[in-house]
Amino acid sequence: MGWLDRAGLAVLRRIDPETAHALALRALNLGLVPLPGAITSPRLATRLAGLDLPNPVGLAAGMDKNGVALAPLARAGFGFLEIGATTPRAQPGNPRPRLFRLPEDRAVINRFGFNNEGMEAMARRLEHRPGDAAIGLNLGANKDSADRAADFATVLETCGPHLDFATVNVSSPNTENLRELQGRKALEALLRGVLAARDGLARPVPVFVKIAPDLTEGEIADIAAVAAGVGIDGIIATNTTLDRTALRSGNAAETGGLSGAPLFARSTAVLARLHAETAGAIPLIGVGGISSGADAYAKIRAGASAVQLYTALVYGGIGLVARIVRDLDLLLMRDGHANVAEAVGTGG
Ligand code: FNR
Repeated sequence: MGWLDRAGLAVLRRIDPETAHALALRALNLGLVPLPGAITSPRLATRLAGLDLPNPVGLAAGMDKNGVALAPLARAGFGFLEIGATTPRAQPGNPRPRLFRLPEDRAVINRFGFNNEGMEAMARRLEHRPGDAAIGLNLGANKDSADRAADFATVLETCGPHLDFATVNVSSPNTENLRELQGRKALEALLRGVLAARDGLARPVPVFVKIAPDLTEGEIADIAAVAAGVGIDGIIATNTTLDRTALRSGNAAETGGLSGAPLFARSTAVLARLHAETAGAIPLIGVGGISSGADAYAKIRAGASAVQLYTALVYGGIGLVARIVRDLDLLLMRDGHANVAEAVGTGG
């Protein structure tokens, strides 16, 4: 990390986290942060649900909720970007403060509640998206919607023409009852609706479903069965957790979803369980607590075809992306893998 990055991070960590986040996005847009551009190698290049990616390390949803920093993020070293969540209508989300740092735990808790500018604003931004990065949208439902299942399809219909993939997010803990859509019957109906909307696009895109880490083995098995039954293109595991075990920071009791290092073991266990359930038939995307190349590699060995991260960037800065990608490449080389795909699920 250069002195400028270090000084910038030191300042950002002293101010309110939501304001710091807005400033970080602005700094990216102003070109104040050095960016490496696309990072790839024959080992890192991979194909995920029909998408050709320069590397398997993606940005997780929630960092660029309104698609305001697509151009710099596309040059930050990520292999793909997920933006949003986006709901049909703009909504303010929960009252501030709603984002809390847990520095001693290398974690954050958020209870944003899908604050976003709505799908029309997102579609307009996506019209000017960079063409050389894979960009997907995290689909959400309005808090006061009469038909939440229909909301996901509506956002996809509106933004789909500008996307490379979309994610059905039924796992945010910050919209009341949203996670009930993960139940077998509700999920099947919901996914069928979204896939019908996808099939109506002039250029149909892969659709993923993103699940919570707080599921029983039975619930994970149900989701795997539904996903296979309806023909979903991938499963993202996982979103933030409600679990608060073994935290040391002062903010540990805040309401919301916990992300970062303490989520790593739990989200990786869910991923491994899903891998066993799906037997490699559905690509899995591993997310939760990744802060190093070794963490990314562990997710891949547990069954992930690609990975995503967000919280580690709060503590490590955007320069961390390039380090993770390059370290992953070295680990693949060390173990004699010709490419990422070869390493998927080798962890037993
Ligand atoms: C998130 N996450 C998230 N996920 C999602 O599907 N839709 C969303 O809108 C958001 N928003 C969001 C905001 C903030 C502030 C955080 C920290 C996280 C969850 C995120 O995509 C990811 O699944 C988890 O954070 C776990 O990964 P990390 O952060 O531990 O790498």
